Amino acid sequence: MRFCINIDHVATLRNARQEGQPDPITYALMAEQFGVDGIVVHLREDRRHINERDVRLLREVISTKLDLEMAAVEEIIGIACDVKPDLITLVPEKREELTTEGGLNVVDNLERLKDTIDELHDSKIPVSLFVEPDINQIDASREIGADLIEIHTGVFANKKNEEEMFDELELIRQATIHAKKLGLGVNAGHGLNYQNITIFSQINEIDELSIGQAIIARSIFVGAEKAIKEMRELIPR
Ligand code: PXP
Repeated sequence: MRFCINIDHVATLRNARQEGQPDPITYALMAEQFGVDGIVVHLREDRRHINERDVRLLREVISTKLDLEMAAVEEIIGIACDVKPDLITLVPEKREELTTEGGLNVVDNLERLKDTIDELHDSKIPVSLFVEPDINQIDASREIGADLIEIHTGVFANKKNEEEMFDELELIRQATIHAKKLGLGVNAGHGLNYQNITIFSQINEIDELSIGQAIIARSIFVGAEKAIKEMRELIPR
């Protein structure tokens, strides 16, 4: 299972003072040295953490892969087509939310999402859709030409006891198997942390995990090297 790190919250901390530190680019380069398989950033319309300069610099300097999370909106699509990340993950975006709150409603937005996927494919960028573990959303993703899906794991992460976690895990496992049968790559992420990752990574059909907040938070206490390597150790290779 590949392990990609979302570094948005290094930029959140930097932006708290509108100065240069901590620098997300430096953090990304360190993360690569400590064993991650890729760097993930979300370029939001309101630029609350990662900015366009970060994305362009990352594209130049990292040697693993760059996954750009973004909403299907014209301005960001233009930047993406220019920067050409290795993967684009389309996510829903609401201004008032603290973080991405759930998967895309692909079923009800077929045309708009298909146009976006086509445009990104014209620039030779593979596209992943962030969705709930829902068969209808996965079928719709396949129908409009997505290359991959990323399954939203936030519901799993919010479960309060192991029994409920395992129920949600089973749902995600079935969704993963279904997506794989359709030929889609399957990533997963949101809310994964040092406590729930061991249970979650039992779904060995998943190709790649995207984990951010828990690692950035732990970095403050134990340093980036220890925080990243500890997570790396918990994820089966
Ligand atoms: N995947 C997607 C699509 C996300 O929006 C996020 C949060 O930015 C993550 C993964 C990572 O979530 P977390 O920061 O909770 O690990």
